[in-house]
Amino acid sequence: MTAISNPGTPAAPGPVSLALHGRTALVTGAASGIGRACARRLAAAGATVRAVDRDAAGLTALADGLPAGTAGTAGTVEPYPLDLTDLDAAERVAAGSDVLVNNAGIQLVRPIEDFPPEVFHEVLTVMLEAPFRLLRGALPHMYRQGWGRIVNVSSVHGLRASPFKSAYVAAKHGLEGLSKTAALEGAAHGVTSNCVNPGYVRTPLVERQIADQAAAHGIPEERVLTEVLLVDSALKRLIEPEEVAEAVAFLCTPQASYMTGASLALDGGWTAH
Ligand SMILES: NC(=O)c1ccc[n+]([C@@H]2O[C@H](COP(=O)([O-])OP(=O)(O)OC[C@H]3O[C@@H](n4cnc5c(N)ncnc54)[C@H](O)[C@@H]3O)[C@@H](O)[C@H]2O)c1
Repeated sequence: MTAISNPGTPAAPGPVSLALHGRTALVTGAASGIGRACARRLAAAGATVRAVDRDAAGLTALADGLPAGTAGTAGTVEPYPLDLTDLDAAERVAAGSDVLVNNAGIQLVRPIEDFPPEVFHEVLTVMLEAPFRLLRGALPHMYRQGWGRIVNVSSVHGLRASPFKSAYVAAKHGLEGLSKTAALEGAAHGVTSNCVNPGYVRTPLVERQIADQAAAHGIPEERVLTEVLLVDSALKRLIEPEEVAEAVAFLCTPQASYMTGASLALDGGWTAH
């Protein structure tokens, strides 16, 4: 795995004001990258975080060294080791959640003609069907209490395609549709549903695809960042997981209560093209 330095990253901006005491927030893919940052951020806001991931060791590490609470006492992280391809279990674990962050994801960079059908199926299962089942599990409680927040970690690839990412782009475009439908159905029940759409984030998922991108594009690994990943981004740096988590936190604040069915681009200007 290639470690990526990220020159030009500004000093971390302060957190948005968010208080989630007494709320339960389920975050999938919480053991790593964006999900880990979201779990820590929502716990810092006071939530009891149900941290779901297939990486049990990563979940244990997550709970260590939680940041201090930003709005009173920090909440807690409860690890839920689970492979989301177990869709019935995914639906069950979501019951009783007040906030649902659909984040878990996987990636394979391969031309369509070489793309293994079983991997296509797995990507669609984890990144589209599991979010649907988690919604099914979470919405009844949210509707009963008249409040809920759904945040779907989509991608610039929910809005734009790139070559060699057929499954990922298909799943993210599907997630956009699922999120908008949940927004329409949830509006009468105090439930908002939005996507956040990052460009490339400095996480293990990106570090793992450097070699694949180099092979698919026929260039050396050291040219992948500038010539592939950041070529369409006006801002020539990766976004940090904590910056994405802050946008997720914002979507859970009262100030964001009129935002629903939206796709919040965090893409350094990529979709401005
Ligand atoms: N990194 C980026 O550049 C980027 C950009 C836009 C969107 N995203 C999206 O953000 C989300 C998180 O990506 P990341 O970069 O933090 O990746 P990551 O690889 O760092 O973390 C993903 C987590 O999901 C978990 N996961 C994968 N399959 C699972 C399964 N079947 N069951 C349970 N857990 C599973 C992994 O164990 C891992 O902990 C993904 O949906 C990804 O598509 C990432």
